[in-house]
Amino acid sequence: MVSKKLRTRSFAAGIAVLALGLGACAGSSGSGDGATSSSGDGGGDLISVGFSQVGSESGWRAANTKSIQDTLTKDAGFDLSFSDAQQKQENQIQAIRSYIAKGVDYIAFSPVVESGWDSVLEEAKQANIPVILTDRAVDSKDTSLYKTFIGSDFIEEGKRVGEWVSDNLGTEPINVVELQGTTGSAPAIDRKEGFADATKDNPNIKIIASETGNFTRAEGKTVMEGFLQAYPDIDVVYAHNDDMGLGAIEAIEAAGKVPGKDIKIVSIDGVKDGMTALSEGKISYIVECNPLLGPDLAKIIKTLHDGGTVEPRIVTHDDAFDQAAAKEALPTRQY
Ligand code: AHR
Repeated sequence: MVSKKLRTRSFAAGIAVLALGLGACAGSSGSGDGATSSSGDGGGDLISVGFSQVGSESGWRAANTKSIQDTLTKDAGFDLSFSDAQQKQENQIQAIRSYIAKGVDYIAFSPVVESGWDSVLEEAKQANIPVILTDRAVDSKDTSLYKTFIGSDFIEEGKRVGEWVSDNLGTEPINVVELQGTTGSAPAIDRKEGFADATKDNPNIKIIASETGNFTRAEGKTVMEGFLQAYPDIDVVYAHNDDMGLGAIEAIEAAGKVPGKDIKIVSIDGVKDGMTALSEGKISYIVECNPLLGPDLAKIIKTLHDGGTVEPRIVTHDDAFDQAAAKEALPTRQY
């Protein structure tokens, strides 16, 4: 591993609090069985949870969905209702309202964008349904609208990529293009800010273009094709996730250039496809964003269900990888 910086509020602290609730799965009324529910028996002693997922835009998201669905099972004491919002906020608001109407015990969701959640979260609060944010933040001023937010520190992720670029590539003048994540989403806002902050004092680093590729491989490729046509002198691509970086590789190769040599790529996530490209030298550096949030979400819910408390912000641990570290990690990579 290249770097293992722990975040300011450590995950270990969160786990210490969560550990209090382990093994204490108090029974409560379950919800009815919905089309997307993992339980067909109407709940019984199970804890009913409505989860609204962002979509299926990336390899990271697929791993995150699997982690949640594999963990919040009937055998583990949960009755999970799961919905995919297809990257649309209106779909998430509709899903959350349906969970409120259904009377689930808990609502968890990963907000597609940061703003515009106060009304629906207030509705959940009025219905006495605790809300847990996973992966992405909301910008609501009223933090009583949710119990906790568990996920990575996206600003820190962007900073770590920026520091690596500054130290390893910014020793001479370089032109950087940025593939941003979904406009208005916490990771797109924070990763942009973190990278800009880490590189601002290096006069060699010039960000010549920055556009959204919506966290998808296809849009990453399309935006990179446009960049390649508009700017003949790109040195580095900073992609807010691996999928867009992989799309950029396709565009660079189609333009007759060699990714990793003619144009370097740095990204965030650490999914298998990204790590494979890193091990082959097509990507130069990846900061991890851990998608395996299911087990910790389960612990949080059980802790709350048992009358315990959880920290308002639980930051998960992320590693970082260069080519050698990726080669070492790949054989046992879970996602
Ligand atoms: O919110 C996490 C981000 O969302 C991941 O980095 C990206 O791949 C996903 O789409």
